[in-house]
Amino acid sequence: MRAVTVSPGREGSVALSELPEPSPGPDDLLVDGLAVGVCGTDREIVSGAYGWAPPGRDRLVLGHESLGRVRQAPAGSGFTPGDLVAGVVRRPDPVPCGACAHGQFDMCRNGRYTERGIKQADGYGAEVWTVPVPYAVRVDPRLSRAGVLMEPTSVVAKAWEQVERVGARAWFEPRRVLVTGAGPIGLLAALLGSRRGLDVHVLDRVTDGPKPKLVADLGAEYHTGDVDDVLAAVRPDIVIEATGVGRLVFSAIEGTAPYGIVCLTGVSPAGRRLTVDAGSVNREIVLENDAVVGSVNANLDHYRQAAEALAGADAAWLERIVSRRVPLERLAEAFTPRPDDIKTVITLDGSGSAP
Ligand code: BGC
Repeated sequence: MRAVTVSPGREGSVALSELPEPSPGPDDLLVDGLAVGVCGTDREIVSGAYGWAPPGRDRLVLGHESLGRVRQAPAGSGFTPGDLVAGVVRRPDPVPCGACAHGQFDMCRNGRYTERGIKQADGYGAEVWTVPVPYAVRVDPRLSRAGVLMEPTSVVAKAWEQVERVGARAWFEPRRVLVTGAGPIGLLAALLGSRRGLDVHVLDRVTDGPKPKLVADLGAEYHTGDVDDVLAAVRPDIVIEATGVGRLVFSAIEGTAPYGIVCLTGVSPAGRRLTVDAGSVNREIVLENDAVVGSVNANLDHYRQAAEALAGADAAWLERIVSRRVPLERLAEAFTPRPDDIKTVITLDGSGSAP
């Protein structure tokens, strides 16, 4: 079978490799891959800046945003051949730490977790893959194209849960949310915000292309322009930050309504410096009981929430987020961004086209 592989730490090492098909263990599903999404983390791995091969190996099978169709399932697993399925990314550390012991491997304390396609475990960017039944997530059968958004949606479901838990420390009835960045994470955060009945605002740099309409079709408001002006006009109770851009992060912290919550989801490169008035930032957080929380990854509960949200969403709207489908044999194109890209996926089943 063919798979997307990379030597972590070595730029330009991404390649299409021929590997033996995996054989499922007694508790595994055997899955025919349909598509795998490409995100910032994958691009970082391909650039040599992130990622770890499995112990004793040089190459890692890339891909953590998965979608596949079950070929073979253990009896009593609840899955049958033909079901759409996505695989969970993270596995608990072997110690395990307290968080992992409680099923909260997304909150692992000792950093010894593994992640498929990222850290010491092969990913889902292969024509055939296996996944243990407890780490397999059922995807609504209507989502044979958009189901590849399961993993990013799980990340967003966790971010929303964090916001709600932080908010629950006192009376909390948020009305307005500002999402910064209209990439896949931002758009899915806006979707989950609109499902909560909030007044949703999205800020992005681009003024044309598919993003403004995607936001409008959620009943949300699309903004471009200066972040401070937008914050002053919206005065959000919640900001979900999905760009990782330092200036936006600090503006968001200063620009929320009292008791504001800023949830940071963007992973930024280190080394970019910015001058901030630390006193003013501190003062704002203290005097308004504000909170800033970082959020990464997702546990099984978040995948369940994501599966429910995707099943309840408009499939055609979700499919518009998947803006480019690149067949496996042309995988290099998937790592070269284009201006109108939102979510690029690599197709694993012979479908897809790259214009
Ligand atoms: C993935 C997460 C993962 C994180 C750090 C993100 O792109 O969505 O599941 O935990 O990278 O490796």
